[in-house]
Amino acid sequence: MCNAVTERHIVAAVREGATTLRHLRRDLGVTTECGRCARCAHDCLRSALAEHTGTPEASTPVFARPIFPLALEAV
Ligand code: FES
Repeated sequence: MCNAVTERHIVAAVREGATTLRHLRRDLGVTTECGRCARCAHDCLRSALAEHTGTPEASTPVFARPIFPLALEAV
């Protein structure tokens, strides 16, 4: 990940109270530049939280596509 952050750093951050990607950004500096590490950081965070709390990992949420109103003239 960026800024030499590893999964170990994320696990440690979770132990110290981090629960969101925003916390990781604030505490470790991940996703502060291009954002390419966001998915990996999120996956590591989710895994670390599951391990820390002793709960099974929740499945990745599926987001519905936004519905954009489409004017008939645009078709
Ligand atoms: S790789 Fe993390 S912000 Fe770019």
